[in-house]
Amino acid sequence: MSSMNAEVIPKHIAIIMDGNGRWATSRKLPRAAGHRAGAETVRRIVKASAERGIEALTLFAFSSENWNRPEREVKLIMELFSWTLSRELKRLQNANIRLEFIGDLSALSEKLRKKLLAGAEKTAENTGMKLVVAVNYGGRWDITNATLKIARAVQLGDLTTESINEQMLSEYLSTAHLPDPDLFIRTSGELRISNFLMWQLAYTELYFADVHWPDFDEAELDKAITDFSNRQRRFGKTPEQIGE
Ligand code: IPE
Ligand code: IPE
Ligand code: MG
Repeated sequence: MSSMNAEVIPKHIAIIMDGNGRWATSRKLPRAAGHRAGAETVRRIVKASAERGIEALTLFAFSSENWNRPEREVKLIMELFSWTLSRELKRLQNANIRLEFIGDLSALSEKLRKKLLAGAEKTAENTGMKLVVAVNYGGRWDITNATLKIARAVQLGDLTTESINEQMLSEYLSTAHLPDPDLFIRTSGELRISNFLMWQLAYTELYFADVHWPDFDEAELDKAITDFSNRQRRFGKTPEQIGE
């Protein structure tokens, strides 16, 4: 019986933290309050993920498209990144967590970019869970950027077109150092990828939680992991080939 399967812990979980705004609006609070509550959830879920032995946790914090939001909201989100990092860095160090960022950080203010990169640098020697925060990230940006780098390398004669294959393209993506996500989670009931890890999610198990991100807690995370444990990942093979 599937419910008796031993829990399979995904190595890499990727999360679209969605629903901060609706969480706040439903409480007659400003959207900012939702983003602040969402930052608290980040702390909880990072801790819980590390405790469960997850090797990498990728969080979608700000998409290439989120610049289209009102300027005030964008500013608040950027400030929250800065505050949260100041507040959490020590905790990350104590938990041996390695912080990394993916996305086009060149569009951020220099001050914020430096702060984020300094945070990553300070935790670079940590050997525990990798916490990858996607900021100004878009899956299409990632693939376009990889294509550009490959084209330049070919132009310079450092690469031949014959050497271009899937494995090689993966190595030019911002996630080159990470295995593809095993489990994708999106909160707040939206059933879409919203330009997250387009290439990397090709064979990821998708899980959608109805709760808004500020309400996503340890029990919700465990529900997602249990659901994942009961899936059969076939990678194109037949169920018989996978065997049970
Ligand atoms: C996710 O919550 C946070 C970011 C995109 C930064 P939203 O702000 O998208 O919340 P909803 O979807 O409007 O409820
Ligand atoms: C995706 O959420 C981006 C992040 C969570 C950072 P959105 O709320 O921006 O996605 P859409 O626009 O509703 O698809
Ligand atoms: Mg949203």
